[in-house]
Amino acid sequence: MAKISDVFSAQVPRYTSYPTAPHFSDAVGPAEYGQWLAELPPDEPLSLYLHIPFCDTLCWFCGCHTAVVNQYAPVRDYCALLVTEIARVAGTLTKRHAVRHIHFGGGSPTMLDPVDIRFLGETLHAHFDILPDAEIAIEADPRGLTKIVVEAFASIGVNRASIGVQDCNPEVQRAINRIQTDRETMQAIVMLRSAGVRSINIDLLYGLPHQTPQSWKETLDFALTLNPDRLAVFGYAHVPSFKKHQSLIPADKLPDIDARYRMAEFARETLCNHGYVAIGLDHFAKPTDSLAQAKLTGLLRRNFQGYTTDNAETLIGLGASAIGSLPQGYVQNAAAVPAYRKLLADGKLPVARGIELSRNDRLHRDAIQSLMCDLKVDLDAVAHSHGTDRREFRDALRNLEPLAQRGIVSIRDGIVALAPGWHTAVRLAAAAFDQYLPAGNTRHSLSV
Ligand SMILES: C[S@@+](CC[C@H](N)C(=O)[O-])C[C@H]1O[C@@H](n2cnc3c(N)ncnc32)[C@H](O)[C@@H]1O
Ligand code: SF4
Repeated sequence: MAKISDVFSAQVPRYTSYPTAPHFSDAVGPAEYGQWLAELPPDEPLSLYLHIPFCDTLCWFCGCHTAVVNQYAPVRDYCALLVTEIARVAGTLTKRHAVRHIHFGGGSPTMLDPVDIRFLGETLHAHFDILPDAEIAIEADPRGLTKIVVEAFASIGVNRASIGVQDCNPEVQRAINRIQTDRETMQAIVMLRSAGVRSINIDLLYGLPHQTPQSWKETLDFALTLNPDRLAVFGYAHVPSFKKHQSLIPADKLPDIDARYRMAEFARETLCNHGYVAIGLDHFAKPTDSLAQAKLTGLLRRNFQGYTTDNAETLIGLGASAIGSLPQGYVQNAAAVPAYRKLLADGKLPVARGIELSRNDRLHRDAIQSLMCDLKVDLDAVAHSHGTDRREFRDALRNLEPLAQRGIVSIRDGIVALAPGWHTAVRLAAAAFDQYLPAGNTRHSLSV
């Protein structure tokens, strides 16, 4: 058996996109994005992602693009910018498009006040045909969540919520600057369900300071009492060189690679024993949930929000730092609000960087997507769908050799599959297909 600490010491991306964001450049800007939007097939439904980069307090582990605000004024100003961007994007499209998925992410969209929530909802309806069965999701911070905010989101059609819980242990919570009582979490879920938000996801984090096998078990037990439809169990990505505030976390109290691996395995075992279906790397869903159904039918996808049933060809990113995925490539808006504001004030689409997909990118992206979603990839099927054959994957097969020798992946008849018990190594297997990796892998986190 391969040694866990050796296998997982590699630092690799999470592959929510391929090529990954560090490889975006200013070769793609507002002009290219404008052209790509105008070229979109008019009858294809779109997905929308709206980024709300504000929070009440800063969790020291946070890797998201967000800032703490003590007053509401900057949030209100930002909503006005979002509305400008929505109108500009819609005005660049050749036709009014249907929308099947909307995701409000952050940061904490639950920072918005009811007036702005309704304003954003009305703006989206004014510019797009939101389909009656559209999935509309929010990322919710349960701390201080109020009924009027929940009801405002429900009134604009929100039917899914993803709630940050992370860890329930008081010592862990103090070390990450996120004090959240079980009661607050429970109340938030009751409010959301009472308002008609039918699907609840819970986010948990392992690899946090002071976590022990016992405290982790208690966190999982508590999460199960909430009866969520889905859970996301993320490994804490500790990259203080990139996210400065993470250096406030005591590095000597972080669990080592072996302990992280055991926590990931324990979560998987516990949740599966309680009837959840494991989805890809880090998601779990009730068997009746659409994510579990998508896994069964091969329709599971991975995008910037993680695993999803969203199979739209085009995801429009709205807001500072938001990333969009179009048939032609990826675009990312200016990350800092002042730069985002300036581009909008100059009459431009607020894109700062991106990447146009080459044929080779698309081929390897499909292989990575299949591995990340299904934990296996049929190289012949992927190659044939691109009009080529599996010899194009010779670099990847060479990179996979060490994993195959250690029994972590099997390679048979052109099918690469994670060996039983090694699903946690899927990012490493995906990295073998990453043609860009040697140039820029220093900002990624441990692969478990
Ligand atoms: C935008 S937050 C969720 C909504 C809300 N802001 C909250 O925290 O309750 C998205 C999720 O990303 C995860 N996350 C944040 N920083 C992370 C990190 N450094 N490593 C891994 N996951 C992280 C957390 O589980 C968090 O719940
Ligand atoms: S984890 Fe959520 S609440 Fe905490 S700082 Fe990050 S985005 Fe904000």
